[in-house]
Amino acid sequence: MLSYQELVTRAIGVLPMAYAPYSRFSVGAALQDTRGRVFLGCNVENASYGATLCAERAALAAAVAAGSRDFAALAVVSSGPGVCLPCGLCRQVLAEFTPGLTILCAEPNGAFQVYTLAELLPHRFALRA
Ligand code: THU
Repeated sequence: MLSYQELVTRAIGVLPMAYAPYSRFSVGAALQDTRGRVFLGCNVENASYGATLCAERAALAAAVAAGSRDFAALAVVSSGPGVCLPCGLCRQVLAEFTPGLTILCAEPNGAFQVYTLAELLPHRFALRA
């Protein structure tokens, strides 16, 4: 398993791949599963703005497509300034698989804050109570 700092470094490493010509706000994400595999994602914007894909959901989709559904930690970083917190939509989508996920919210310089998804998204939507 990578250390938290190493996972943050992986998220920073994918930042240059972000496709963000409209917002100029790049986001990188690195999602580690419980077996130690790491999946990367970046935001992918579109001229039809609502079709934009966030970095966190891009990483999650790559993981699920590879057969991974149990996650240990997610690192997310933006071009800044400050730490990047996942949007509400991404919080809900991540909670589908790992409600207690550890989330590392990082700055481009590698400093980060540690949260759990449960604290970022209390009372998430579920089809059944
Ligand atoms: N974005 C993400 O990639 N993740 C988030 O959690 C919030 C926002 C992206 C979407 C868009 O390309 C840009 O950041 C500005 O909203």
